[in-house]
Amino acid sequence: MKGVILAGGKGTRLRPTTRVVNKHVIPIYDRPMIYYPVETLLGAGIDDILVISNADHIGKYIELLEEDFDADFNYKVQSEPKGIAHGVGLAENFVNDEFVVLLGDNILIGDLTREMLSLDSPGAKIFVKQVDEPAAYGVATIDDGKVTRLDEKPDDPPSDYAVLGLYRYTSDVFDIIDDLEPSDRGEYEITDVNKAYVERGQLEYEVFDGEWFDAGTPEGIYKASKVVRDNRQF
Ligand code: TTP
Repeated sequence: MKGVILAGGKGTRLRPTTRVVNKHVIPIYDRPMIYYPVETLLGAGIDDILVISNADHIGKYIELLEEDFDADFNYKVQSEPKGIAHGVGLAENFVNDEFVVLLGDNILIGDLTREMLSLDSPGAKIFVKQVDEPAAYGVATIDDGKVTRLDEKPDDPPSDYAVLGLYRYTSDVFDIIDDLEPSDRGEYEITDVNKAYVERGQLEYEVFDGEWFDAGTPEGIYKASKVVRDNRQF
C-alpha cells in the first residue's frame, strides 16, 4: 500500500507565519509538523510515500525528509491550492490501487495498523473520533456499521464523530474526483468525494483510539506540542 501526504494549501489560519513559510515546517514541539504524518505512515508499514506541496516549498521537504527518514519519497507540486480532493487527484500516476491519504497537518498519536487500513468490501474508509466540539469539523453519522451521512462543519451536529484527515481509497476514487464540481469556496472538497461513497453505501469507518490534533490553528499546534512533549522520554 502507498501513502500520500498533502502538504500544500493556503494556511490562512496560521498567518502571518504562513505568508513566508509552508505550514508543515512549523514545529510541533521540537520537530517539523510533516514529520508526524510521515511517522504515522511508517508506523503502519507504509514507506512508499508521495508528498504533495506547492512549488515554492516542495524543495524544502526534499531537504528535510531525505535526511531524516529511511523511506521511498516521491514529490509532486500542486500549483494552486484548489482543495484537498484536487491534491488527491494529483496522486493518480503514483498509486497502483490501494492507498492512504493523510493531511500533513493532522497529528495522530497512537497506533495506526495495517489492519485498521483494510477494507471489508470495495469502497473507501474514513477515520473518526468522538470530540467535544464536532461543529468545527466534518461530522459522520454512523448507523449499523456504515457511514450514512457526512456534514461539513454543521451548525447542529447530528453526531459527535469528527472525521480525521486520514482516508483509505482505491484507484476508483479518481473517477469520482474527475466528476467533482468546485464548492462555493472554489475548492474541490474531500467531503464531496466521501459523500459519493456514502451514496453508494460504500463508506466504511474506523474509530481512532489515540489522540488526534488538527495542527492547522495556533491552538492545535499548542495542544499537539504539549502532548508530544509530555509523552517524550527525556
Ligand atoms: P486545510 O487546513 O483545510 O486548508 P489550508 O491548509 O489551506 O489552511 P487554512 O484553512 O487555514 O487556509 O487543509 C488541510 C490539509 O490539506 C493541510 O495539511 C494542507 C492540505 N491541502 C493541500 O495540500 N492542498 C490544498 O489545496 C488544500 C486546500 C489543503
